[in-house]
Amino acid sequence: MEQTLVLIKPDALKNSLTGYVLSLLSEFHTGLRFAGAKIVHVSRMLAEEHYAEHRGKIFYPSLIEYIMGRLHYPDEPRKRRVIAFVYQGPGATGRMREICGPTNPHVARETRPGCVRSLGTIVPIKDGQGKVIGDRMDNLIHASAANEDAEREIKLWFRPVDIPPSMRTYPTEINEKHYYFKDRTLSLTHEPGSVCLLAPGDIVWKTDLDALGKLHRGEASAVTLEAVAAKYLINVHQENN
Ligand code: GTP
Ligand code: MG
Repeated sequence: MEQTLVLIKPDALKNSLTGYVLSLLSEFHTGLRFAGAKIVHVSRMLAEEHYAEHRGKIFYPSLIEYIMGRLHYPDEPRKRRVIAFVYQGPGATGRMREICGPTNPHVARETRPGCVRSLGTIVPIKDGQGKVIGDRMDNLIHASAANEDAEREIKLWFRPVDIPPSMRTYPTEINEKHYYFKDRTLSLTHEPGSVCLLAPGDIVWKTDLDALGKLHRGEASAVTLEAVAAKYLINVHQENN
């Protein structure tokens, strides 16, 4: 059964479009079902992992600020949220991308009136002197582009226990060690200031457990430590900067 990740971005929350967007994504309209849902205060680490493919691009810094909610709530950190969903059903990824529409809201309005992103906007980015140096696409929603992206993204935003057991589609395992995280390093023992990511008995994505094992042995891993840690740190701390 196919699954896909959907994010209701901070501009949708700010403009009170959440209910409208979700009604477009209803099972009646899409044939897809919720498998997971959560309100997330997006940390810089989570934002950077989510948009890792865009690292180095000219719009990357503003994209990170955007998904963290810093652009739409510059003075109200507690309002900075994204709503994350896993949707499940036949052709979930393609179906969701279709309803979202083109990335650029102007193109969306011209070519796919009525799609979610046709309600978005483009905002000029100015330098200190007020000169326009680029633009920002506030397009209200994210949906995974392909099934491989969906798997990576669902595992980045959701723990297995966030999804009902009968709806989990990726392999899980029972963890047998304590894993702690501090200053972007991993350890098996607690030290002052470290956060416990996993304890014995926790159900984890198999790929996360494989990654932690490799990283602890100093081997290369396709799943980064940050990608595993960012998920377990969701809503643990308020990040203000
Ligand atoms: P997401 O669902 O958010 O991943 O959008 P997408 O898959 O339709 O587009 P893509 O992954 O290529 O880009 C991610 C986000 O970066 C987009 O949603 C836009 O907000 C932003 N973006 C992409 N391309 C551009 C661009 O050329 N200029 C600007 N300013 N922003 C862009
Ligand atoms: Mg994308």
